[in-house]
Amino acid sequence: MNIFYKDGEIATKNLTPGIRVYDEKLIKERESTEKNLESVNEYRIWNPRRSKLAAALLNGLKDFNLNNDSKVLYLGASTGTTVSHISDLCDDGLIYAVEFSPVSAKKLVRLSQRRNNIAPILADATKPKYYLNKVEKVDLVYCDVAQEKQSELFMNNMNLFLKEDGQGLITIKARSIDVIQKPKKIFKDEAKKIKENGYSILEKIKLEPYEKDHIAFLVEKSF
Ligand SMILES: C[S@@+](CC[C@H](N)C(=O)[O-])C[C@H]1O[C@@H](n2cnc3c(N)ncnc32)[C@H](O)[C@@H]1O
Repeated sequence: MNIFYKDGEIATKNLTPGIRVYDEKLIKERESTEKNLESVNEYRIWNPRRSKLAAALLNGLKDFNLNNDSKVLYLGASTGTTVSHISDLCDDGLIYAVEFSPVSAKKLVRLSQRRNNIAPILADATKPKYYLNKVEKVDLVYCDVAQEKQSELFMNNMNLFLKEDGQGLITIKARSIDVIQKPKKIFKDEAKKIKENGYSILEKIKLEPYEKDHIAFLVEKSF
């Protein structure tokens, strides 16, 4: 995975040099190629306060597999902040980006016009039958919908679209599920549900200090 680490920050190589997607910082790095030629590459700093995937990576997520030709189903794409960094990483892949807010989806469509590895889908991720014939089997199902039934929605989509050797990543916001219950108990209950439905949890990563009472689970199918 081509993530660039520097001075405690992470960045992805900009697929559309000179163009920002949100208010991220752009940096240029001089690099030498195998044939000793020099080239200048542009990177986009990946802000962990704007993207939970960046927060999970900075907090130690390690067995997360994303290759430059990976296919991704992204649930809760919003305006494309995290989608854009995945798009930098999977320059030869495809991201099916599902979002149900027409206002956010409009920005996502604009983003996809500059990045041809993003396929925006205006749909409700609780009703995957509406995009069943648009989405192929994927290497990663990523879920960040901040909804009460997010684990169920995540598993339904994985059951339909995840390749046998694929991975799922869900970020869970405790307060979206229950505002009174302790986050620790909520995370335990969600983990139990996921395991009971035929998935193993490979990594559990808390997202503090970037996001309070959030956790990310990296999962795969159990055998
Ligand atoms: C926390 S935001 C996602 C932020 C985004 N993942 C990022 O990092 O750039 C949650 C998004 O999920 C969307 N959402 C919530 N429920 C959904 C559903 N059932 N289907 C599709 N999108 C949903 C919301 O409209 C919102 O844009």
